[in-house]
This record gives sequence, C-alpha cells and structure tokens, in this order.
Amino acid sequence: MPELKMPANLPDPIINENAKIVLQRRYQRKDTEGVVYETVKEMFWRVASAIAQEEGKYKESSVKPAALAREFYDLMTSYRFLPNSPTLMNAGTDIGQLAACFVLPVADDIEGIFDAVKHAAMIHKSGGGTGFSFSRLRAKDSVVGSTGGVASGPLSFLRIFNCATEQIKQGGTRRGANMGILRVDHPDIMEFIKAKERDGELNNFNLSIGLTEQFMQAVNDRAEYDLVAPNTGKTVGTLNAREVFNILVQKAWESGDPGIVFLDRINRDNPTPSLGEIESTNPCGEQPLLPYEACNLGSINLGKCFAKGKNGKDSEIDWDELKRIIHLSVRFLDNVIDASVYPLDQITEMVGKNRKIGLGVMGWADLLYQLKVPYNSQTAVDLAERVMKYVQAEARSASKQLAKERGEFPTYAESTFGKANLGPYRNATTTTIAPTGTLSIIAGCSSGVEPLFALSFVRNVMDNDKLVETNPFFEAALKEADAYSGKLMEEIAKVGSIRKMDHLPEHLRHVFVTSMDIEPIWHLKMQAAFQKFTDNAVSKTVNLPNSATKEDIWDIYWKAYEYGCKGVTVYRDGSKTSQVLCTGDGD
Ligand code: CDP
Repeated sequence: MPELKMPANLPDPIINENAKIVLQRRYQRKDTEGVVYETVKEMFWRVASAIAQEEGKYKESSVKPAALAREFYDLMTSYRFLPNSPTLMNAGTDIGQLAACFVLPVADDIEGIFDAVKHAAMIHKSGGGTGFSFSRLRAKDSVVGSTGGVASGPLSFLRIFNCATEQIKQGGTRRGANMGILRVDHPDIMEFIKAKERDGELNNFNLSIGLTEQFMQAVNDRAEYDLVAPNTGKTVGTLNAREVFNILVQKAWESGDPGIVFLDRINRDNPTPSLGEIESTNPCGEQPLLPYEACNLGSINLGKCFAKGKNGKDSEIDWDELKRIIHLSVRFLDNVIDASVYPLDQITEMVGKNRKIGLGVMGWADLLYQLKVPYNSQTAVDLAERVMKYVQAEARSASKQLAKERGEFPTYAESTFGKANLGPYRNATTTTIAPTGTLSIIAGCSSGVEPLFALSFVRNVMDNDKLVETNPFFEAALKEADAYSGKLMEEIAKVGSIRKMDHLPEHLRHVFVTSMDIEPIWHLKMQAAFQKFTDNAVSKTVNLPNSATKEDIWDIYWKAYEYGCKGVTVYRDGSKTSQVLCTGDGD
C-alpha cells in the first residue's frame, strides 16, 4: 500500500539525545551504503500511516485512515504510547514483520530440530525474538531408533540454536534473543540447570525451568518426584524436589540463571486450551505463547498520565487521558496484526486464530516520582493494582468494541471467554508488561514497571557511545527544593542513589529510591500486583545486593509462587560480568 500523504502541518517530533542515536542506528531507514535517508518524523509517519491504513479494509469502521494516521502519529511522537521495536523498524517496509515475540515447537527428530533452527533464523532476521521448549527432546544417551545410536540430548542441540543465533547478527535490525525452557521432570534437568554456570556460555539464551504444581508440592513436602522420558512417557528415575530447588537457587545466586516459570499456572490462563498447551514464553518471559504463535506488544508511558491539580486535587492520575490512550493503542495493536507479514505460514495461521496483543505500561517509576509515592511502599503496590486493573478493563472494553466492528477472534467460541460467555472479544489476550529496553530510551522514560536503576548515570548505548542521563523528575524536584547543583549531579552519577546523602532533604530521599535501595520483597510485591491484572505475564527482575544469600533467593523464588507470579528472574548485583538482555542497551 502506498504511504498516506504526510500532512503539510505535521509537527516535528521532539527527540532526546539518546533516542537520536538509537533511532539513527537501528530504526530510521538506510540505503544500501548504510546512509540514513529517513528523518525521525518520516519514520513515525511511515509507522502511523502503515498501521492506520489497515483500518480501510474494515467497512464498519467509524474511523478514516488519514485521520487515524494523524492520531497515531501524535500518540507516538508525544511518547504516550510506542509499539514494540519491530513495528517501528519494519512497518511500511519490505520486511513488514512487526511482532517481537514468537514461540516455535522443537520436535524430537533431526528434521524437526533443524526446522526450528531455520525458522528461528528467519524470525531473528526480522527483529523478532524466539522462545522454545526443549522438553520434547529425548534425554541424552537414550536410543535413537533409526540408527541404533544414542541421542545427544536437549543441551547439545541448544548449543546449535545458540551458535546459529550468534551468526545471524540480524543485518540492520538487532541481535537475536531466545528463551529456552525445560520441564523440571525432564531426565536431563540437572544438566540444564547448570548449563550457564560458565560465564558467556549460551550467551544468546535466557534459560528457565518449567516448574509444575506437582513439583512445587514435592518441594513443600520434601518429597521425591518422577523424571519422565518424553519420548516414551515412562518414569526413568526420581529426584528429591527440594534438592533440585536448592541447586536451582544456587545457580541463580551465582549468575542469575536459570529463571523459573510456573507452567501449570500459565496454562490455567491459556485462553484457548483446545489449540494446545503453552510450553514456552518469548525471550524475556512476559509473553507465554502456543507453538507457532506470535504476539505484538506496545507500551503506554504512565509518566505522561500524571495530572497536577486536576479536579482540584494536588496530584493524581489522569484517568480519562489514560482511557483515551488505551483505546487508541488497542486499535493500533489490532491493526498491527493485519499489517504484519509473518515469516511462516503456520505462524500466519496461528496468529489469525487468536489475534493476541500485549498492551503494557512503562514509565511506572516516573509516575510514582511525580505522585511522590515511594516505590517500596504499600501505597505504590495498591496503586499498581488499581492502574493495571484499569488498563486491563479498558483494553478489554476496547477489544470488545473492535469485535463489534470487525468480528471476534476466530477461536472465540471454543476459548475460555466464549465458554464463559464473557465476550465477544477481538483478541484472545490484550495485556502484557514488556521490559521496554529500547522503547524507554526512545520515550525517555523509566523502563516497564521497574524502579530506576540510578537517578543519574552514564549510559552505554549499543557499542561505545557514553551518555550521561539524569531522571528529569528528580532534577525538577531538586530544583524545586533549591538543592540542584552540577557538582551534586556528578556525585550522584558515581553512586546512582541518594539514600546515604544525609545533606539532602528527607522527603526527597524517601521518594527518589532506586532499584538497589529497594528491598527485594518490594520488587516481588510490585510484580505480583501488576500480574494480578495482566492477561499474559510481567517482565521484571528482582534486584538483589551482592551480599544477598542463597536463602534470600530461595525466599524470593518461593514467594513468587505464593504471590501468584507466572515466573521470576533475579539478579544479584555483580554476579555476572556481562548481562545478556534487556538491560536497556538498545541491542
Ligand atoms: O523495547 P523493545 O520493543 O525493543 O523490546 P523489549 O520490550 O525490551 O523486549 C520485548 C521483547 O522483544 C522481548 O521479550 C523479545 O521477545 C524481543 N526482543 C528481541 O527479540 N531481541 C532483543 N534484542 C530485545 C527484545
């Protein structure tokens, strides 16, 4: 489709310095010589136009593509909402693949395994990330029928996926990211748990252990549990659940890997169990998907939903504005499904059936700073629930509205929504909280629902560019308190936090907390609060100080289960020389 004509009066977007670099490197279009020929304004218009044009094919639509393109343009360039990176990179281009998240099946035969390697390569090339369950692969040393030889097991194949990813540097887009999951009852589970103990090993993978209710019960009861051969369904051994859990915790303490996902819980929320079981998530864990399913994400910048003095109050959330943004964003993401060209027919088919979208939030820490609510407080946790409940309810209401205009998702009748007569909806899921590693740089906001890593710091953007950044709300509060000075900023950049700076006003030290100032339990409570009202999952890292013990991590893993999270990832300060993903390095 030819691009819609850019309106003559279209305002230029305001772009922060870090965003300029990131956008130029990876998002703005380049010619064959690598020279950027697209301005940021043209980039946003390309995206707005391509996504709005999908509206044209729905006869019942109340909105006209040209007017909608302008609304989308304003929505993105005011940084109230941004779609995931592949949409910004590829909308309206020949690549046309717009989703960030995919899950591929790995079958227990050589052809199936190498099909998955090939399909992952195709997805990585377009900027998407892939998740796999390796649980179907027979255990190491089991017999291979066709040759009489022995199988090499999930781990050795995982290395092939890792190596293939390494070689595809995603010409022009970004480095491939993967999630590898193995069920805790797979016979090779101990080897998998230890797979990343050497630094740099499987560097293109995040690994998670798929825990079952039965296993968690066995941990609780200090009982043995069965290991089951996936190819025969036979029990081939037993392990002590608590010992396995302890080693899992030990490895996570050493390096942050592996994380854990609660498979049964994820499947309890599977909206279309008739289409199969969910066995994996995308690379950063926030999007559980069926094999061959893909999902596009988008994030609302909550920092922009602060209203000072509205309705005569001191400060509050602008709920009406939030509602407007949610409804527009859901329409945007639903159009992205149609605008996207998927690399495989099986994916096109699966996406068409469920039409999943993942609308989430970023700038949460920025909003709390403006509201003067400390992240590590019950007030913040309660507010998280309130905000996400609203986002989920309004996103679903927007999806219902779209179903009226365009029809429900094709598998609605057999879905859990259909069976409970809750819809009809246009989308099988509507909410997901992504890490927003790059989006938050573009929008100049705090990432996802994470607290700020530092109030002022030097950021390494992609390769070697160093940029100093100070949180704007912190800077404003310092100025308001007459405490701002260049020297102070330098001091803060060295340590990140103001917790120990006694000379600063107490009210500032109370509100402007950073991730390391926050007790791990508050990280987890916050994750659980957002999860409660998120259809898919929440990307969140529970940050721990270097001094954290294995018992601390044991406690976090166990409480994540108790609090109803779908998984958890921890990171103990300094336990890894280089972080793999989602650290906001724009990679
Ligand atoms: O901010 P951005 O849209 O670039 O991505 P994100 O929110 O940090 O990550 C969302 C998802 O994008 C991840 O869970 C992956 O599925 C995918 N991703 C990827 O494939 N490769 C990366 N280097 C980063 C993210």
